[in-house]
Amino acid sequence: MNRVLVAGGAGYIGSHTVKELRKQGFEVVVFDNLSTGRREFVGDAELVVGDLENKSDVMGLFRSREISAVLHFASLIQVGESYVHPHKYYTQNLSSSLNLLEAMLEAGVKRFIFSSSAAVYGIPRSIPITEEHPLDPFNPYGQTKFFVERILQDYDRAYGLKFISLRYFNAAGADPEGRLGECHDPETHLIPNILLALLGKKERLEIFGTDFPTPDGTAVRDYIHVTDLAGAHILALRKLMAEPRSEFINLGTNKGYSVRDVVAKAEDITGRKVPIRELPRRKGDVPVLLASKDKAERLLGWRLSFSGLDSILETAWNWHRRSAR
Ligand code: UFG
Repeated sequence: MNRVLVAGGAGYIGSHTVKELRKQGFEVVVFDNLSTGRREFVGDAELVVGDLENKSDVMGLFRSREISAVLHFASLIQVGESYVHPHKYYTQNLSSSLNLLEAMLEAGVKRFIFSSSAAVYGIPRSIPITEEHPLDPFNPYGQTKFFVERILQDYDRAYGLKFISLRYFNAAGADPEGRLGECHDPETHLIPNILLALLGKKERLEIFGTDFPTPDGTAVRDYIHVTDLAGAHILALRKLMAEPRSEFINLGTNKGYSVRDVVAKAEDITGRKVPIRELPRRKGDVPVLLASKDKAERLLGWRLSFSGLDSILETAWNWHRRSAR
């Protein structure tokens, strides 16, 4: 029996992972409230529309189906908003995780893959960031990921719940087959904002900060293709099923690109000019984020196939252009 539950499987990273799970023969039940996710992103997986905030919905899900493991993507993700509405972030991100874990324990399901974030590290003290780097999140969003990781450790000790917490760096790009892509509302991420500006759907790209201590003054990030990210989830799931041991694993490429690098590459690929406005730094942005990918490679046998700025921008452009029609 290999049926897995994917909470938040209609969202950006969740849906790419569902697609990969189905390709690899897993039975998938997606649980999503469709607040940001899209029904059509679920493909041929079963979709149950419901809210993790509603404990009885979640409990019912486990009572009516046999589930062997859970992947949890459902989360609020905007760093900026988390400063303004910390209560919303702490309530939703923590209570959804707690409800899901409670239902799992009641049903005796003890394998959990968690969508964590590089935000748990806070301001990097050394680059590239390894999993041993001190955890010091400085925005409420990062704190919620940090707290869930702590809860998971306690549940492992007390209840034998085994988990792999995947700490994403900057997820980007779109399904190479063009069915899925990235769309948030409001859009806050760099690459979709560049593409929206290129398509005339945003007046211009705002560059937040040109005075960072980086070669061109703009912030450097580690962009990882969402299909590579999805692949890592399946490897992590197989690892956890075969060898139940809890782990924290970074998912990044160990290569950094500045905002200006990304803009230049997007102009190259599309043959269009990005209209730009330079603004002061955005609250909470750090100069450089770069992952060590050694542990993911060593433990999961993970290899990058789609990551690289060219492929990220080409697949994202392909999807954005089509969805803009
Ligand atoms: N940026 C711009 N203009 C934009 C959007 C972004 O200049 O319109 C800049 C940002 O200031 C930042 C860089 O581009 O320097 C990347 O910004 P993103 O918003 O795309 O990504 P972040 O690095 O801010 O955040 C991502 C995830 C978060 C996660 C964080 C942790 O979106 O969920 O990585 O590493 F918490």
